[in-house]
Amino acid sequence: MKPEARIGEIAKFEGKEVTLCGWVYNIRSSGKIHFLLLRDGSGVIQCVAGAKDVSPGTFEAMKSLTQESSVIVTGSVRAEKRAPHCGFELTLKDVKILQIAKDYPISPKEHGPAFLLDNRHLWLRSLRQVAIMKVRNTIIRAIRDFFDQNGFLLIDSPIFTPAACEGTSTLFETNYFETKAYLTQSGQLYNEATAMAFGKVYCFGPTFRAEKSKTRRHLTEFWMVEPEMAFYDLGDTMDVCEDFLCFVVSRVLERNRADLDVLERPAGPLENVRKPFPRITHAEAIAVLRKAGAEIADNADFGGDEETILTKQFDRPIMVHRYPAEVKAFYMKGDPADRSKALCVDVLAPEGYGEVIGGGQREDDLDTLVAAIKKHGLPEEAFTWYLDLRRYGSVPHSGFGLGVERTVAWLCGLHHVRETIPFPRMMERVTP
Ligand code: 4AD
Ligand code: MG
Repeated sequence: MKPEARIGEIAKFEGKEVTLCGWVYNIRSSGKIHFLLLRDGSGVIQCVAGAKDVSPGTFEAMKSLTQESSVIVTGSVRAEKRAPHCGFELTLKDVKILQIAKDYPISPKEHGPAFLLDNRHLWLRSLRQVAIMKVRNTIIRAIRDFFDQNGFLLIDSPIFTPAACEGTSTLFETNYFETKAYLTQSGQLYNEATAMAFGKVYCFGPTFRAEKSKTRRHLTEFWMVEPEMAFYDLGDTMDVCEDFLCFVVSRVLERNRADLDVLERPAGPLENVRKPFPRITHAEAIAVLRKAGAEIADNADFGGDEETILTKQFDRPIMVHRYPAEVKAFYMKGDPADRSKALCVDVLAPEGYGEVIGGGQREDDLDTLVAAIKKHGLPEEAFTWYLDLRRYGSVPHSGFGLGVERTVAWLCGLHHVRETIPFPRMMERVTP
């Protein structure tokens, strides 16, 4: 049954007869000839059936084909520069119709985002969505390759957790037998434990934020990759961020040119993603923002709007470090030169995309960390194991988290993260 060939590798079959399995992307007919655009997930090919090419029964049956009907077609492969999509054409000999799709709801005309999201299970078949998922696949593969090639060990962290990592206001609570548990916001705290066991580790999985936020950058469930390194300081971590992002972007440029074309995503800005990335302090970033006309207080965190303005001033990602400690998480190490600042870094993607990475150096002193946990109103009991890491061989250590969906949105040039994950979860959507 399985297809002997896929459209993406059709060049290998030039001049030969081949059987392809797929779905009707489009069909138009004149009285004497059918033009069928067939898609199979790897590409689209034009199939041509003249009245004399196929049996009269098949020619007649093809008149009933509709968008998304499923078919198995056999024909001979011909290079044809003018053919749409793949530069090859199939002259059909036979068509087997598996099922006629009646009234497929998504037509080539424009639909609103709510309608498309309701039909996400079908929307994923569109060429644009396939291109996005291919880029996503490349990004995920590149992430794993980068850490694999640089001496990191993959150690996945749990999803049920007993306490907050990134602030109590964005926790999803679940029943856990006689008690409560929370869906993980980040694997970082566990990474800190495993980094003390293995030196350099990363975890990669879904994370959850109950943010009551409806921006184009927020999902309630998103994928995050988080490396953690023992004996790395903030500067070392920024070096890793830089190498890592350059690696991922160049991999996409290498493998997904055709997909970027489908998305009409110009490659130029991505080709600029080269070392060194500008490194500016939060205070310097505030000055840049004010110069660009933004009104912002000295100690303010950046929202999406500020990040958009800021990143448009640079032609590549920027690394903003040393935010005010008060706007950052409890585990951040204070800057010895100015305790009001945290040894943290956010990497902001250009073209208005903003934060794709958040990270920094962790507090490694027991007493300072206990005080920070108290100050943030967190339950100390839940952190006894975490505090042990500062009791038994504490060392300077650092790490960061990269959000996959924001990275996909940036590299694909998408306005909203809702298209970057197969089935997006947002404040007002948990279906389909
Ligand atoms: O900046 P965040 O909250 O950092 C952490 O969770 C750290 N514990 C990571 C670490 O140091 N190990 O999140 C990291 C990244 C953000 O830069 C962003 O790309 C993504 O995760 N992210 C989201 N993506 C989509 N929707 C959301 N609601 C997101 N929240 C964070
Ligand atoms: Mg952040």
